[in-house]
Amino acid sequence: MGTLTSPATILAIESSCDETSAAVCRNGDILSNIIATQAVHQQYGGVVPELASRAHMQNIVPVVQQAVQAAQCDLQSVDAIAYTQAPGLIGALLVGSGFAKSLALALDKPLIAVHHMQAHVLANLIGDRRPAFPFLCLTVSGGHTQIVRCDSPLQMTVIGETLDDAAGEAFDKSAKLIGLPYPGGPLIDKYAQQGQSVYKFAEPQIQGLDFSFSGLKTSILYFLQKAQKDNPDFVQQELANICASVQQSIIQILIKKLMKAAKETGIKEICVAGGVSANSGLRKALQATGERFHWNTYMPAFEYCTDNAGMIAIAAYYKFLDRQFSSLDASPSARASW
Ligand code: KG4
Ligand code: ZN
Repeated sequence: MGTLTSPATILAIESSCDETSAAVCRNGDILSNIIATQAVHQQYGGVVPELASRAHMQNIVPVVQQAVQAAQCDLQSVDAIAYTQAPGLIGALLVGSGFAKSLALALDKPLIAVHHMQAHVLANLIGDRRPAFPFLCLTVSGGHTQIVRCDSPLQMTVIGETLDDAAGEAFDKSAKLIGLPYPGGPLIDKYAQQGQSVYKFAEPQIQGLDFSFSGLKTSILYFLQKAQKDNPDFVQQELANICASVQQSIIQILIKKLMKAAKETGIKEICVAGGVSANSGLRKALQATGERFHWNTYMPAFEYCTDNAGMIAIAAYYKFLDRQFSSLDASPSARASW
């Protein structure tokens, strides 16, 4: 087992949804981050849990092998095996956790269980430019939307979250209404770059730091129904402007609450994380808002925004330093308390 004085090498596995990923980090530096995206779900318009588990089974051995090879290390020299314990699709989590436990047992290495959402936040600690503590993180993914106050790598508090859909769901469900394939978020981003935000949708009126996106989805649905009644080719003709308007509405909801959180906490170190933080409009809006309010803003590199094992490795590294190991009988969980 590695000690605090020797370099800590961690192999991490992520399998919570539809990405099979493995990464190796040494002393907090990512040496490799291999991500196998499962294309099988596209034809179904969303992630099919059973198919995700099967694809993880097919991908996990080659993905781990590639991660170890790319890091130019071998399994024996790894000091700990980390895996995503929760939250996520239970069948998908079981594949990664079963594989990680088997490796830990066979190699006689300690095991580290990682919370997927905490790992998204800590993706901001990858690389040279890192936020100072305490920082705020807007975590926006396909399953979650949270504002997290992070006081140390091991101490985080959720201070706001969505009451219904996640921001990624808002993107994907809006894309579906527009007729775009799954996952629609990146496509809305792409088309929005060619259009203008000229259409307005209902804005949620939610108290405090919580979010709501279900009203926006309904507002978009009614808007499209009405517009298509008048002009059946409306979506085709106005695709770029519709995408720009939808994207702008989602960004506005997110940035407004982030401004409120920064004001209430007095924190000016502001990060984003999660799949939706790959959105070019959100990244621009964060930068512009940061300049206006004198925040220091941070965004993970694209490969660490969407699901990846690099962020699991970095979260595990801090747990390793604190000797937070998990037992072989710890079971994964679809929903996990923070
Ligand atoms: O964090 P993530 O990879 O997986 C979850 O843990 O959910 O996030 C996936 C979500 C999807 O909803 C996807 O549409 C969205 O992130 N997403 C984007 C972009 N890239 C990924 N949404 C908007 N613009 C993007 N460029
Ligand atoms: Zn995620």
